[in-house]
Amino acid sequence: MDNTDMKTIQWFPGHMAKTRRLIASNISLVDAVVEIVDARSPLSSRNPEMDSMTKNKPRLVLLNKSDLADEKATQQWISYFRRNGCEALAVDCKSGKGVKSILPSIKNTVLKELMEKRARNGMSGATIRLMIVGIPNVGKSSLINKLVGSKRAKVEDRPGVTRTKQWVKLDNNTELLDMPGVLWPKFEDQEVAVRLAFTGAISDDILDIETLAMKLLSYLAENYPNSLKERYKLELTGEETGLELLENVGKKRGMMISGGEINTERAAITVIDEFRSGKLGRITLEAPQKRSE
Ligand code: G4P
Repeated sequence: MDNTDMKTIQWFPGHMAKTRRLIASNISLVDAVVEIVDARSPLSSRNPEMDSMTKNKPRLVLLNKSDLADEKATQQWISYFRRNGCEALAVDCKSGKGVKSILPSIKNTVLKELMEKRARNGMSGATIRLMIVGIPNVGKSSLINKLVGSKRAKVEDRPGVTRTKQWVKLDNNTELLDMPGVLWPKFEDQEVAVRLAFTGAISDDILDIETLAMKLLSYLAENYPNSLKERYKLELTGEETGLELLENVGKKRGMMISGGEINTERAAITVIDEFRSGKLGRITLEAPQKRSE
């Protein structure tokens, strides 16, 4: 992507430093970290400093919002994380799908060694402590609500907020630090920033909405042409520019302004909204084989 069409990226160095300290000071209290990412963009929605910040604690990666992601791609991502030595699960914290597998996965896989050691020492019942981390809007509060249910009040999910540390019991030997670690995504890479803007993880005004919609439509035309054919009845040749795709959506939806021009802004808002709410189908924005880190 051309640098010139990207407005200044808002970056939060001050908050980031505070968050890093907050996570660092709590990490020693837990046995494992649950890192929640967006299944539609699992690498773009993760903070690259996560590894160093969690000091190689055993970690479970949750691919959340899997209800909105391409199922086949999600399976590939799970294999990718496992190949890289990290247990991963697909979840949907809105409906709760997959949430029941989290604790068994932590005990049987992520903390297998610790559990075996404890069993050898007659400490099987010792408490396991967990912490949840992830970028804003990825589903941390939804996950905590699903895990804890009515046992807790509202989560105050602001970075750098100092409040009394609270441990919530999840079962007879598992406790969760009821204070998610909020990490900002790191988007020096503009491709990453665009994926985060598609999902709404970062503010839309990083790019104007029409540019954003054109980029999304081009990606969909290449990777998910059927979703455009079905939703907007587009006939695709595979040669269309993003602008042509956007105009075609506007035309099909009768979004005209006086003088017979197409209201591309309205069309863009529609495309982005419909993508985010899953109306364009289950779509993943990056494939594991395209990035090697
Ligand atoms: P955060 O604490 O990490 O900031 O995220 P939070 O749980 O507040 O979730 C952010 C938004 O993502 C919420 O939508 C939430 O409902 C939605 N969400 C979380 N998990 C899932 C999931 O697995 N699938 C889907 N489809 N959505 C999910 P919202 O629009 O902000 O609120 P609302 O729709 O719940 O009213």
